[in-house]
Amino acid sequence: MKITLIHGQNHKGSTYHIARMTAEKLRGDIEEFFLPRDFSGGCSGCLACLHKGREFCPKAEKVSAILDSMLSSDVIIIGSPTYVMEMTSHLKGFFEHIFTAWLAHRPEPAMFSKIAVVVSTAAGMGMDGVTKSMAKQMFYLGVPKTYQIPFRVMASDWDGVSEKTKAKINAKTNKIAGKILSKKGRAKPGIRTKFIFLMMRAFQKNNDYAPLDKAYWEDKKWLEKERPWR
Ligand SMILES: Cc1cc2nc3c(=O)[nH]c(=O)nc-3n(C[C@H](O)[C@H](O)[C@H](O)COP(=O)(O)O)c2cc1C
Repeated sequence: MKITLIHGQNHKGSTYHIARMTAEKLRGDIEEFFLPRDFSGGCSGCLACLHKGREFCPKAEKVSAILDSMLSSDVIIIGSPTYVMEMTSHLKGFFEHIFTAWLAHRPEPAMFSKIAVVVSTAAGMGMDGVTKSMAKQMFYLGVPKTYQIPFRVMASDWDGVSEKTKAKINAKTNKIAGKILSKKGRAKPGIRTKFIFLMMRAFQKNNDYAPLDKAYWEDKKWLEKERPWR
């Protein structure tokens, strides 16, 4: 099993430890990225990715290193500490750079069988909203199943997390790793994904705004009967 592990911060804090321990419990090959070390900055809004192709993005090389890893993985694990009730700006910046792989544009067929895990910790509050937001990113990329691990740690680093909370984290990550191991290769898109795909199909038929998107759907035969999932 291949696992892509993306950390929305460079340092090895509580969020890092939870994401890393989840990945290790899957006993696969882990490819790990740290933001901003491996990717930084928000989108400049040039829209080269939308109108010309992702390879024309000024940061194409760094974007594709991470996206290609996600595409070739069975499981995608993403962690972000809660910063001002949101995911880190580094992680948000990365997601901005792959919006053309959303269901609304040029979704990647490989995404439709993956499992994701999204992790966030906060000292007090906001972590549930952050994992929800990260799960939303996974959904619009086509990922059929995302497990959320939000934890209130009441600490500013891993050493400060109480043994009681660490025991809860251990139990939660054991449970999710077990579910992933039993579900791997069998994740299938749900009704919501299918509904949005059909809506986008209707939209793409008359898409004059982004011809590259329409050509992609035509090429995949998705404007006819084909679907990106099996
Ligand atoms: C810039 C910044 C913003 C933060 N915003 C919040 C917040 O909105 N809510 C909260 O409970 N904790 C907040 N915190 C605390 C961290 O979310 C918390 O300590 C978290 O567990 C840190 O994760 P880490 O150990 O993985 O870095 C903030 C910390 C920083 C540095």
